[in-house]
Amino acid sequence: MDTVTAPPGAASRPHLPEPHAHIIEARLTKIEDVARDTKLYTFQRAEGGPLPPYKPGAHIDLHLPNGLLRQFSLVVPNSDPESYVVGVKKDANSRGGSRYIIEEMKVGDRIKISAPRNNFPLMENAEHVVLIAGGIGITPIWCMTQQLIALNRPWTLYYSCRSRDDMAFLETLQTLDPQAVHLHFDDEADGKFLDLAAAIAGAPANAHFYCCGPNPMLKAFETAAASRPHGNVHVEYFTPKEEAKANELGGFWVELARSGEEYYIPPGKKVLEVLFDSGVDVDYSCELGICGACETRVISGEPVHHDAVLSEEEQATNEKVMICCCGCKSERLVLDM
Ligand SMILES: Cc1cc2nc3c(=O)[nH]c(=O)nc-3n(C[C@H](O)[C@H](O)[C@H](O)COP(=O)(O)OP(=O)(O)OC[C@H]3O[C@@H](n4cnc5c(N)ncnc54)[C@H](O)[C@@H]3O)c2cc1C
Ligand code: FES
Repeated sequence: MDTVTAPPGAASRPHLPEPHAHIIEARLTKIEDVARDTKLYTFQRAEGGPLPPYKPGAHIDLHLPNGLLRQFSLVVPNSDPESYVVGVKKDANSRGGSRYIIEEMKVGDRIKISAPRNNFPLMENAEHVVLIAGGIGITPIWCMTQQLIALNRPWTLYYSCRSRDDMAFLETLQTLDPQAVHLHFDDEADGKFLDLAAAIAGAPANAHFYCCGPNPMLKAFETAAASRPHGNVHVEYFTPKEEAKANELGGFWVELARSGEEYYIPPGKKVLEVLFDSGVDVDYSCELGICGACETRVISGEPVHHDAVLSEEEQATNEKVMICCCGCKSERLVLDM
């Protein structure tokens, strides 16, 4: 096995100090059931007061008491400045993140959370917005839907789940304009998936598309939307789309332009790990190239991208890089830090 990147959402933190950027001491104030194995969690500042604002598409980190660090999208637009609401689905194969939250967390628990981060911003003034969600991928998509409703902007929602029991917000969705809301249940469609190609083909030429769901759905969506302008197609991956192999990491020098320090990244090692081991203060969260916390500006060098945060166009410019999972084609990578 030559994969050194931890499996999706793995607890690979023991080798790194806890990230301290933008940590907020919070308290869990409400838990609501919204679907099978899926709950909404409301957090407020432990000492009360407003939380940093955010826009739809943003997520926060939960620093779980069991040592795991996990990311969760905010599900309601920023109407209450003192609360963050996230939706969590218990992953059937969870090694501790979602399972801990669903089974162990209770109202009153104190927990560290991060300030919101947004890699999936909504174009609120788009001519038309097509929102597509699969399973728990509804969390950022539902936040966007509510925002577009509040702003009275045109939108269409396609939301697919295995069955009705798995669909969060079903009752509310059924009260919305049936022309705009298209719900799909695999078990009521002879196991057939939502027809993504038809959803995309039916949208106006200038529509912006937002999709979040399981990786196979996102890949099918990207293929189906390939003929649309790339800048109008937006995705958020909850798990990595590609894992860097050991022979794709390390074997190059990193120079930090601001301090002038240089570090050799040995083959198989991540830039993030080497910098931390050397005492450099770098923000991080997922360590898997899916959250954007470690995004760093590139001054020179040819990084090899293994993240799911930057679009293909952004990766091609080599202006930014996720240092938790990148390799490098050139001998030296000069970073703006
Ligand atoms: C930006 C962002 C936003 C997110 N928003 C949400 C959200 O709103 N709601 C939500 O529920 N989740 C969200 N997630 C996902 C969430 O952060 C966690 O990854 C998820 O809860 C699973 O964590 P876990 O610890 O339960 O599972 P993990 O133990 O991390 O397992 C996750 C998956 O990894 C695989 N896996 C498990 N063990 C192994 C192994 N040994 N080897 C290989 N593969 C393995 C399995 O397929 C499993 O399903 C988001 C992620 C990101 C990056
Ligand atoms: S730490 Fe999440 S993308 Fe690098």
